[in-house]
Amino acid sequence: MAGRLTGKVAVITGGCSGIGLASVELFVAEGARVAVGDVQDDLGAALQARFPKDVVYVHTDVTDDDAVGALVQTAVSRFGKLDVMFNNAGAGGDFAPMMDLTSAGLDRTLAINTRSVMSGHKHAARQFQKQGTGGSIISTASAAGLQGGWSAAAYTIAKHAVIGIVRQAVAEFAPLGIRSNAICPGVIMTPIMASAFGVPKERSDEFMAFLAKRFANVHPIGRTGRPRDIAEVAAFLASDAAEFMTGAILPVDGGATAITTSSFGVDAAAATKEFLAK
Ligand SMILES: NC(=O)c1ccc[n+]([C@@H]2O[C@H](COP(=O)([O-])OP(=O)(O)OC[C@H]3O[C@@H](n4cnc5c(N)ncnc54)[C@H](O)[C@@H]3O)[C@@H](O)[C@H]2O)c1
Repeated sequence: MAGRLTGKVAVITGGCSGIGLASVELFVAEGARVAVGDVQDDLGAALQARFPKDVVYVHTDVTDDDAVGALVQTAVSRFGKLDVMFNNAGAGGDFAPMMDLTSAGLDRTLAINTRSVMSGHKHAARQFQKQGTGGSIISTASAAGLQGGWSAAAYTIAKHAVIGIVRQAVAEFAPLGIRSNAICPGVIMTPIMASAFGVPKERSDEFMAFLAKRFANVHPIGRTGRPRDIAEVAAFLASDAAEFMTGAILPVDGGATAITTSSFGVDAAAATKEFLAK
């Protein structure tokens, strides 16, 4: 049976872990061939060995613009073309509060979370234009790209900027049939949790289980997210079913950014009663 992505060629950055790994697995199951760019070479080699026909792993530091260009070219030389660019690699970056944030800390956080997404847009769009085809660009932003306070300042700034890239891409690329959409995950249980908070790698799974319990209620839907929750949305955006979607900024967060945590609505009604009773 044909999958939703049969015949498509995708690049997925950060494909060795978490959301990226779930996306590689789902894209392949749906019929795509995938070039994975990451810096975890052991995991990348294992992934390629799992899917020898459908996955090629390329060591790619996404903070290096030329390396992202080379990753796109590897996808093309190995699989013949490019249809989908998923700019997913990212990291917590510098956790300093604003008053202590250094230029170096901000730059480092922007390089991995924002500049990488810009490079992905540029190199994918050049390839799509050369092919004379459209294409789908997907970027992982964050709930922290929609609201302050989810993370530290540098990450919040970096993820808000990802949304700016997507909107500018619509202005420049839509006439070429190139779509660009962003996914804004809520709290998803992936190894980034352990790495961002300095928990040793070997305790990562245990830490995720602990966090999943502790933070289930951050999302109105009553649980934290799973990598597959995000991969499913990415697969849809990659597919032809989404051909009229571009510029969408999609929260995939169990409702977390849809409602305020303030109880103003209820409190104001009670305050009004109190006021009118006087
Ligand atoms: N997990 C969450 O709660 C959450 C929430 C919102 C957004 N995000 C975003 O989702 C994306 C995926 O994160 P995840 O949660 O799956 O984390 P993860 O740590 O499991 O995966 C991130 C992957 O990116 C790779 N990577 C890091 N730096 C890189 C670099 N310089 N070059 C190439 N690859 C690099 C890592 O090796 C890793 O494989 C990130 O952009 C992250 O900011 C995550």
